[in-house]
Amino acid sequence: MAARPLIAGNWKMNGLASAMGELEALIGGAPAGGPEILLCPPATLVAAFAARAAGTPVAVGAQDCHPEPAGAHTGDISAEMLADAGARWVIVGHSERRADHGETDALVAAKLAAAWRAGLGGILCVGESLAEREAGQAGAVVRSQLSGSLPGTGTGTGTGGGVAARLAVAYEPVWAIGTGRVAGAAEIAEMHAMLRSELQSRFGDAAEDVRLLYGGSVKPGNAGEILATANVDGALVGGASLAAADFLQIISGAP
Ligand code: PGA
Repeated sequence: MAARPLIAGNWKMNGLASAMGELEALIGGAPAGGPEILLCPPATLVAAFAARAAGTPVAVGAQDCHPEPAGAHTGDISAEMLADAGARWVIVGHSERRADHGETDALVAAKLAAAWRAGLGGILCVGESLAEREAGQAGAVVRSQLSGSLPGTGTGTGTGGGVAARLAVAYEPVWAIGTGRVAGAAEIAEMHAMLRSELQSRFGDAAEDVRLLYGGSVKPGNAGEILATANVDGALVGGASLAAADFLQIISGAP
């Protein structure tokens, strides 16, 4: 494990104001000195959650951002607005956005650059489909997503901190998201080793500390084994992050 683990919850399009109780429970149960804890509620809750979580071990993030800082983009939210609302991280390139909104690697790279411009960390998601895995193309697909979704080499990672403070990469096989099917430890280890080495060729030794998260049906019952896998520095948790009790169990399984 390279760095302090990062356990991130992605609430997706779930959560009304009444969900504040789950944040309260998460804050109440968050272990001091444990892994870094991040909760990414829907955009409507970012400001209220960030205000409540300020000064606690729980950081608040967002699930998407627009590449531009401001302008005529109805319905979109910029990274600067998220930072202004108190977000610290933003997820970019989630497979649901790639599928539902046709997001390309180039757009994801622009969003990650926007996150850095605004001083946010970016959680960059990559992952192959079932058809791609069955065709033996998982490694090639994920490698190409990673290189295409990282901003150009001239792009800095924003002000302050090294790359590890600004970038985490989440390997989320599409076939494991919300399906109850989890990649095997060997599959995860192989993919994460590849991601580490690709990041090393881009960022040098600083890549050692970039957190590589696994995501896809992470639950209290499997988190311990997943988090003990080589080159796994945390998890991106969807469904099991909605209830604080489950999310806290996953957090307590982190080394
Ligand atoms: P899941 O979602 O944990 O519900 O499978 C993970 C994700 O999509 O980030």
